[in-house]
Amino acid sequence: MSTATTPVTVQKVGGRLGAVVSGVRLGGDLPAETVAEIRAALLQHKVVFFRGQDHLDEEAHEAFGRLLGTPVAHPTVPSADGRYSFPIDSDYGGRANQWHSDVTFVPAYPAFSVLRAVVIPPYGGNTLWANTATAYEKLPEPLQALADGLRAVHSNDYDYAALRPGVLPEQLARFREVFASTKFLTEHPVVRVHPETGERTLLLGNFVQRISGLTGADSRALLDLFQGHIERPENTVRWQWQVGDVAIWDNRATQHYGVDDSDDHERKLRRVTIDGDVPVGVDGRSSVLLAPESVPDPAFGIASGDSTTSETSKASPAA
Ligand SMILES: [Fe+2]
Repeated sequence: MSTATTPVTVQKVGGRLGAVVSGVRLGGDLPAETVAEIRAALLQHKVVFFRGQDHLDEEAHEAFGRLLGTPVAHPTVPSADGRYSFPIDSDYGGRANQWHSDVTFVPAYPAFSVLRAVVIPPYGGNTLWANTATAYEKLPEPLQALADGLRAVHSNDYDYAALRPGVLPEQLARFREVFASTKFLTEHPVVRVHPETGERTLLLGNFVQRISGLTGADSRALLDLFQGHIERPENTVRWQWQVGDVAIWDNRATQHYGVDDSDDHERKLRRVTIDGDVPVGVDGRSSVLLAPESVPDPAFGIASGDSTTSETSKASPAA
């Protein structure tokens, strides 16, 4: 179906980030100029929302994702359709109620995530996004200077049970067997220079284990300090899902949080992630994969962060 006759409109929903894009029927057949408009809105507003995309299935969702870049599989969790569709289901234990950017435990973590609402609970289950570029920009200059020089180690092997006190033993077992089946450690700069906008963004979130070179207590204090600026309510936008909604976010300039307040009601979303590149800090140093030696191939397609090995070796300066 052509969208050529419908004007695309972009309406802000938050002061710091978020906009609703109307007049688009998402799919793999969108004209290049519409894709360019969506991409520009995405880079400017960090997260963009589309209502009424009920026509999308796994295949069309992925086909649309390909217009933004190369879809990538999750490094450890099997897809929902044997391809690139990642399940975010309440019955899967997948309640992402921690602030994070997706898959930051690998170097070349995804640039974009495209999330589609399939089953939405009668209440609750909203998602929050925070702008990590404005979080940096609004920091007092001495804190910007401090952050500029820091690096942090991210891992998928975090203390899941401690973060989710009510977690069921089977969910914990599943986390260990699936999500953390391969344990990744990646060191990123705390301040990433955005490869498309040039903005400086804070690269933190719940996959961070520690600030490199600091003791546990100092590391925790600094992480809480910077993460607190990201999570300030004024720096966030909140989305109340309807079935058929699609949210696309710039995973290099945002964190998000799935609010776990819909009790036992079913909530089912599907995510397609688009390949990113290896972050670079303000000093020009790239992120480095510390473990394992390379990102293993998933059962299907290419893994998020797969470009790691070559990119890292390419990016490693002689000095
Ligand atoms: Fe996420």
